[in-house]
Amino acid sequence: MLNSLYPAARSLLFRIDPERAHDLSMAGLRHSEKCGLLKIISAKSPQKKISICGLEFPNPVGLAAGLDKEANTIDALGSLGFGHIEVGTLTPVAQAGNESPRLFRLPEHKALINRMGFNNPGIEQGIRNTRSSKSFRGILGINIGKNKVTPNELANDDYAYAFEKAYPHADYITANFSSPNTPGLRDLQSEDSAARLLETLKKLQSKLHRESGRHVPFALKVAPDLDETQVKGLSRVFQNGGLDFLIATNTTLARDAVAGHPNADEAGGLSGMPLQRHATDIIAQFHSVLGRDIPIIGAGGIFSAEDALAKKAAGASLIQIYTGFIYRGPSLIHEIIRAW
Ligand SMILES: Cc1cc2nc3c(=O)[nH]c(=O)nc-3n(C[C@H](O)[C@H](O)[C@H](O)COP(=O)(O)O)c2cc1C
Repeated sequence: MLNSLYPAARSLLFRIDPERAHDLSMAGLRHSEKCGLLKIISAKSPQKKISICGLEFPNPVGLAAGLDKEANTIDALGSLGFGHIEVGTLTPVAQAGNESPRLFRLPEHKALINRMGFNNPGIEQGIRNTRSSKSFRGILGINIGKNKVTPNELANDDYAYAFEKAYPHADYITANFSSPNTPGLRDLQSEDSAARLLETLKKLQSKLHRESGRHVPFALKVAPDLDETQVKGLSRVFQNGGLDFLIATNTTLARDAVAGHPNADEAGGLSGMPLQRHATDIIAQFHSVLGRDIPIIGAGGIFSAEDALAKKAAGASLIQIYTGFIYRGPSLIHEIIRAW
């Protein structure tokens, strides 16, 4: 029923400011979940279990980071059928993010541009919010980042701090070092910086595993704006450093596909359809080096089952959606699971 209601809801939501539409939808979802309505109107998603890194995902479709930045809508989103939900990005200290407007639609291109800038309640509040999730039975990923005011030389301290806080509460952790909206963040994708970050988190993971007896795998999330040399260099770093898995990709800085659109020159990351082919290509490039040793979660412009299967063919073990979910609604989740 929800699937058939979504197009009408979307046409109303697309008439208001994108960030306000986001906030209203999230509040609406939480409310519908609390009063039991969501369970009644949402279709049950089929199971299609996939195991990677010792985790059993109930199905291949996840919610990409950035939609539930506060980690306070997990149960409602879970009711829609996601097999995994990645909350955040959460930083050590709460921050407001960039000034509004900071989210733009490009409906003619089935795309969004955002420069949110890690607006989030901070890792501790984020974790408290995850604790109030009661019904979600899927896999919970916690995506962490560094605060804007933290210089890159101290970035690893931010990641380590957030990692340690997230560890007891996450099924997996993602270190996001590829957002284009925190100045200098993508510089951390240089081979040297990536190797240092990976080493820091790997050591911390071993220590926390020893202390708690629980192994929590972690991913790094990469940008699509990497050339072949960078992909090869990073792949070596990931292999040498023993990365558990990879998320590819974040949003792009490229604008060629949307040139001429009134919002094309807004600063920020472009997501959705214009990112699709390039993200798939980056996944294929990483997969050709990493093989099955370092599984990949694929994201970027998935709007249909065919798009998801193209990511699978490129080497993705699972996929995540964000922009396609905004444009297509929850029916996209079920469509992909059935076809996978
Ligand atoms: C509004 C918006 C906010 C986002 N915020 C984050 C974020 O906080 N952390 C992150 O790792 N990715 C973030 N992303 C990137 C998505 O998780 C995803 O990697 C990207 O949008 C590509 O997938 P898509 O084309 O399905 O949207 C954001 C994307 C959008 C559209």
